[in-house]
Amino acid sequence: MPRNGRGVVATMTSTTSRVFIHARLADATSRLVGACEIVPMMGSALGVVEYARSWTESGRAFPLHPDLLPLRRGQFTLRTRGGLGCLADSTPDLWGRRIIAASMNPPPADGPAWLLATGDDRVGCLAFSKTPSLGAVGESFGSVMNLERIAEAFQRIERGEPADPLSEHLYRAGISLGGVRPKAVVDYEGHLWIAKFQRRTDEFDQCGAEDAAMRLAARCGIDAAETRMCKAGSHRVVLVRRFDRSPGPPYHPTGHFLSALSALDLDETSGDGSYPQIADFLHRHSAAHRVDREELFRRMVFNVLIGNRDDHLKNHAIMHRPGTGWRLTPAFDVLPQPDMDPVQAISVGKHGTTPSIANCLTRCGEFGLHEDPARALIETIVARLRGWRTFYGESGVDGRTIDRLRRAFSPTLDPAN
Ligand SMILES: Nc1ncnc2c1ncn2[C@@H]1O[C@H](COP(=O)(O)OP(=O)(O)OP(=O)(O)O)[C@@H](O)[C@H]1O
Ligand SMILES: [Mg+2]
Repeated sequence: MPRNGRGVVATMTSTTSRVFIHARLADATSRLVGACEIVPMMGSALGVVEYARSWTESGRAFPLHPDLLPLRRGQFTLRTRGGLGCLADSTPDLWGRRIIAASMNPPPADGPAWLLATGDDRVGCLAFSKTPSLGAVGESFGSVMNLERIAEAFQRIERGEPADPLSEHLYRAGISLGGVRPKAVVDYEGHLWIAKFQRRTDEFDQCGAEDAAMRLAARCGIDAAETRMCKAGSHRVVLVRRFDRSPGPPYHPTGHFLSALSALDLDETSGDGSYPQIADFLHRHSAAHRVDREELFRRMVFNVLIGNRDDHLKNHAIMHRPGTGWRLTPAFDVLPQPDMDPVQAISVGKHGTTPSIANCLTRCGEFGLHEDPARALIETIVARLRGWRTFYGESGVDGRTIDRLRRAFSPTLDPAN
């Protein structure tokens, strides 16, 4: 069945309610995992998932969700995210939805239609079809050589103008990924990267701020996805290396991706969700829960100190890789947010979303840390963050942006303290 191509999605009908789920594996094969049927239910919808026998009996099987969709025969119900539950991680957010909806007639009307409208650029290894057989892998990346053209097309789209067909072809890779920022998937130096572009409304160098924050995170001992800065004409672009694709073309998926939103089975609109809850999920499922929980604590402290207030549940993730099992993924989408309210997006401790070190310490035991080692870990991060301004300057971030970012960073980091 043709999938993923321009115009192909336009032939889908809005009545689709069942979708077959597949896993694309690292050896270029794919397996039928099962099916999901969406059942309308009093203004909302339930998803009913059933695994294929060939999947549950396969030696390569993994559960789509370790709590909600255990690997056995029978029917399982998904109640969040319009009945898609964790499958919704394979669909885009604001940015991709806007482009997909504009290029389809009629636009996707329900969860299955959205799954079918996505391409092989989607995060993780799942793929979807209307019949039990899956089509060939669609072209799911562009070239780093085209960044300038893509940036110009994005500026046009943001102004509400149509993009020319060639540009549309170039930026298609990336629309199935989540997030609100314009992005495309490109290959560069033998890896796949997510290219994140400036927005028309950006008031400071967001791309440079993200690149420097990710490298600063690595300096603080955090396993952060690798980044590079690129110029595309007058535009700054940050490249973030994909951790869910193997190196070298054709860049096979390396495992199954579960956002923390999916792991905790919450809706995007939910006010629930916290770092300790993610730690609890890791405690129960991670193949190295001590390491992963401590790493999560480090990321929480880092986010509090640099003022990354946009640390919502889709900005944390867990992946299942063959031979490894479930592990926290590298950190992504980490940057100071000087214009957001000074509260974290999710709770850090007993005082909710209050961004303070004291609050981080209130539940450190749930990250497997006694108070003394937790304090020592925080001290190390604080010491490495004190020179953040110099680090940002040396990373090519302009002085005006650095001044703007200052109010996001914790006063604890001021040289005087
Ligand atoms: N390095 C990566 N490797 C694989 N997948 C990634 C990587 N970085 C991000 N993703 C996936 O792409 C999605 C969008 O990326 P990201 O969060 O960086 O975009 P954004 O537009 O800045 O998001 P937001 O709306 O949270 O600001 C993530 O939610 C995640 O599913
Ligand atoms: Mg994000």
